[in-house]
Amino acid sequence: MRVAIFSSKNYDHHSIEKENEHYGHDLVFLNERLTKETAEKAKGAEAVCIFVNDEADAEVLEILAGLGIKLVALRCAGYNNVDLDVAKKLNIKVVRVPAYSPYSVAEYAVGMLLTLNRQISRGLKRVRENNFSLEGLIGHDVHKKTVGIIGVGHIGSVFAHIMTHGFGANVIAYKPHPDPELAKKVGFRFTSLDEVIETSDIISLHCPLTHENHHMINEETLARAKKGFYLINTSRGGLVDTKAVIKSLKAKHLGGYAADVYEEEGPLFFENHADDIIDDDILERLIAFPNVIFTGHQAFLTKEALSNIAHSILQDISDAEAGKEIPDALV
Ligand code: NAI
Repeated sequence: MRVAIFSSKNYDHHSIEKENEHYGHDLVFLNERLTKETAEKAKGAEAVCIFVNDEADAEVLEILAGLGIKLVALRCAGYNNVDLDVAKKLNIKVVRVPAYSPYSVAEYAVGMLLTLNRQISRGLKRVRENNFSLEGLIGHDVHKKTVGIIGVGHIGSVFAHIMTHGFGANVIAYKPHPDPELAKKVGFRFTSLDEVIETSDIISLHCPLTHENHHMINEETLARAKKGFYLINTSRGGLVDTKAVIKSLKAKHLGGYAADVYEEEGPLFFENHADDIIDDDILERLIAFPNVIFTGHQAFLTKEALSNIAHSILQDISDAEAGKEIPDALV
């Protein structure tokens, strides 16, 4: 099948081409993000492969349907950027990669927590300048702290396991339909969202972004959280009201924020803007705090994850071409 691969970078190219030796699909790699302005580039393809910041809203899906696109294959787990109702109406199948490597993101969240809490990046910068002073670098033990997890699926349960067994933290978690067996197996306790918000020393977000939970971390929830708590977001930027985070950091209520995602990341992330003037005062204010660490949606980026993603999307494309059922299809 001819597949237009939007937002593709060298690492996608390499991993997908290598895996395609077993599949033989006709792949067209495009640097551009999928938007209403670029959708026409899919002309001649029967499927598009997209990533987290590509826009598959109603308008874009209409254009794709007009071009004869029958399949949208997301090379990620989250699918908040696709209008599934419209895709269904247009008879476009949508598939994603539900679990390519939960370890990649869970381990990265742990890395972000330690970098923030133990001020590792500040320490590294000091030593580069022959500054061996430890003043201002005091952190906390994670051991015996209460770690609250919001969303306990593939990634959240690996993160819970590391926090419980690796750090000896007291892990509490919330998800809409708790799974007592999972909690027992991993060694954490399910509780209400309120208890997670109000009693955690560290809160890590591992749920998808939906219409219902947009800005679930907002001025009101931040005010109810423990003074000095750390917030870790490797999930989706839209879960967090960034302006409220800035306000809470300025009030010295939120103790620190570690984020790999940002609610307005679409036009910025995955590109080098080192020579540009960034026209986003909220982001620039946020990253200026000494107790904020920020990366550009890199939590998924391991060799294992890239290889599993390539295998999963190419297999789904082959199955769709052969008219087979795809168990994880969203539409
Ligand atoms: P999953 O589908 O396995 O688990 C999601 C969990 O969130 C489930 O337990 C579900 O019940 C729960 N949940 C759903 N709605 C909720 C709500 N309103 N409040 C609390 N919990 C809720 O997904 P997985 O694979 O664990 O991924 C989680 C998220 O991580 C993805 O949706 C994606 O947004 C993000 N992600 C980020 C990456 C990165 O590179 N930064 C890479 C991969 C995923």
